Amino acid sequence: MDKAAQEKNTGQSTNIVWHQASIGRQEREQQQGHKSVILWFTGLSGSGKSTLANAVNSSLFSKGCSTYVLDGDNIRHGLCKDLGFSDSDREENIRRIGELSKLFIDAGTITLTAFVSPFRADRQSARELVEDGDFIEIHCSANLAICEERDTKGLYAKARAGEIKEFTGISSPYEEPLSPEIKVDTGEQGLEECVEIILSKLIDMGIISNP
Ligand code: ADX
Repeated sequence: MDKAAQEKNTGQSTNIVWHQASIGRQEREQQQGHKSVILWFTGLSGSGKSTLANAVNSSLFSKGCSTYVLDGDNIRHGLCKDLGFSDSDREENIRRIGELSKLFIDAGTITLTAFVSPFRADRQSARELVEDGDFIEIHCSANLAICEERDTKGLYAKARAGEIKEFTGISSPYEEPLSPEIKVDTGEQGLEECVEIILSKLIDMGIISNP
């Protein structure tokens, strides 16, 4: 971390000093044989983010990669259990996940995040936490009609009935990525096809090697 970043302190903590770790990301990446990046899956609830992130995770894991999935529903059981779904709570949710993902990539891990992350500004802030090329945005673009028809968790029905407020796509906006690194149509394309698209892109980008 450079001096300017060390001195920048916008939070509550004062009198803190950055400690340089004895083993850095480069050493870990070298040992692992692949780069560590954030694969940031974004899309409507029910668009298949978690399913796809887990399928990509399995595939990378079977190739010997160090990986971890951070999933919205799971993280909200613990780290973010104090947050709801107001705009500001979502912003804080994504801020924490951005910071957490940054630690994971420092640990040499390919980090797959599956959060609705509906706001462009929040995704951009997460992107800016890490270096160029470290943040790979993957838009799971299944449209609202398909997600609502699937309604795997029964939440769209509840949202339509007014039982859930501020539900993304119904009563809260989803801002589509303007230029994601990868876009998969999880409404029309099958799971295997989407996994293949992502893996071949990771090979093209030099993040993993072609076995
Ligand atoms: S985010 O907007 O802050 O990124 P996150 O991905 O953590 O959301 O959580 C979304 C999940 O919470 C959805 O998949 C759904 O299961 C559940 N959920 C509950 N209430 C809402 C809501 N109001 N809007 C969207 N998702 C909700």
